[in-house]
Amino acid sequence: MSNCACCALVLLVTASLLSVSPSARSQQPPAHINADRLLLHMTAMGEIGKDPVAGYARVAYTDADRQGREYAIGIMRAAGLAVSIDTAGNIYGRRPGSQPGLPSIMIGSHIDSVPQGGNYDGVVGSIGAIEVTQTLAEARKDLRHPLEVVLFQNEEGGLQGSRAISGELREEDLSNATRSGKSLRDGIAFIGGDPTRIAEARRKRGELFGYFELHVQQGGSLDAEKIDIGVVEGIVGNRRWDVSIEGFANHAGTTPMNQRRDALLAAARLIEAVNRVAASMPGQQVATVGRIEALPGAYNVIAGKVTLGIDLRDLQAARMDAMFDQIQKDAAQIAAATSTKFAFHQIVDDQPVLTDPRLRKIVADSAAELKFTSKPVPSGATQDAQSIGHIAPIAMIFVPSVAGISHAPQEFTRPQDIVNGANVLLLSVLHLDSQQ
Ligand code: HGY
Ligand code: MN
Ligand code: MN
Repeated sequence: MSNCACCALVLLVTASLLSVSPSARSQQPPAHINADRLLLHMTAMGEIGKDPVAGYARVAYTDADRQGREYAIGIMRAAGLAVSIDTAGNIYGRRPGSQPGLPSIMIGSHIDSVPQGGNYDGVVGSIGAIEVTQTLAEARKDLRHPLEVVLFQNEEGGLQGSRAISGELREEDLSNATRSGKSLRDGIAFIGGDPTRIAEARRKRGELFGYFELHVQQGGSLDAEKIDIGVVEGIVGNRRWDVSIEGFANHAGTTPMNQRRDALLAAARLIEAVNRVAASMPGQQVATVGRIEALPGAYNVIAGKVTLGIDLRDLQAARMDAMFDQIQKDAAQIAAATSTKFAFHQIVDDQPVLTDPRLRKIVADSAAELKFTSKPVPSGATQDAQSIGHIAPIAMIFVPSVAGISHAPQEFTRPQDIVNGANVLLLSVLHLDSQQ
């Protein structure tokens, strides 16, 4: 028999052996995700919801948000997931487990963005989670635990979707205004949820074996130190208020300086006070006023009314308490000095959450197995994982954000880092699935 014939025979036999026992083949865990497909989906999502000024505006409850959701649902179905939308508007993709009665492993993130935001915040973790399930399906690798991919709705507006799942979203929150101009109630209906049955979106402690979220760091330490993977230790708490300041609109030319009730002057002093309070306290706390509206908003009218937003964060609730106490004291003095009135309406109160030590170790071990460098890092950004952390063990996998830029058009994460993160997510899911 010639050499060629012999080789062909060997190939034929090998191929037939592989095809003889599909169940044996299907138990081989895949070693890595499909990088080309992952990056193709990232590029495709990057064509949806571009902000006319710059960056992206897949702001929750807008048409762009809905287009992004539709694209994601399409690739979830292509990955073989059973797709559904819960009453809060979160998108679920489910894959059954081989062992009856086990709790689910959950992975996911969000695809809504801030205005003029980037295409990586939330998208990397959402597309990465879908790619992990498609890779498992192609390898015909059955997990013991059911696997749930969740794309949480309106993460940027205060973790609204994941708070519905953890049971933190309250009936009174539904009347809050959102960035889209819709109320939270109307926004949830706009994306296919049912705001009259929000409670049905709630999941109970014990239903989830663990939750992993892949996300861009949004801070700069991994990029600066050339570290591949961040193993998140904890996620900051976040409190937000809408502040309204009542003055008296009057003529800019005929009103003497000592007879004004200037709401914009009062706002300016409050904004300086918010910055000073956070900057003067020891610690890593942060405080931001990122939005303001002055009415009637004319050159020649003293502003009679101002609304602005305050965002406070820290890993310790006590530090946020201390900052807010001081800000309120300063506001009272400013109001007296400018004859204006302040009202604070709290719209977000997300607690700080630590990740789970066992899941953290799985992430660190998976990174090491793949020969990636890693280090423990805090999350200065709020995350859906912190809501899920109230009902299940959580861990987060960070990949570098170039120059630490995020929530801006220049937000960027290198393609190889996205692929690295998705491979760590795949391995973390496989390791957790093998545990009791
Ligand atoms: O606001 C945040 O920190 C997050 O990006 N939603
Ligand atoms: Mn995010
Ligand atoms: Mn964000």
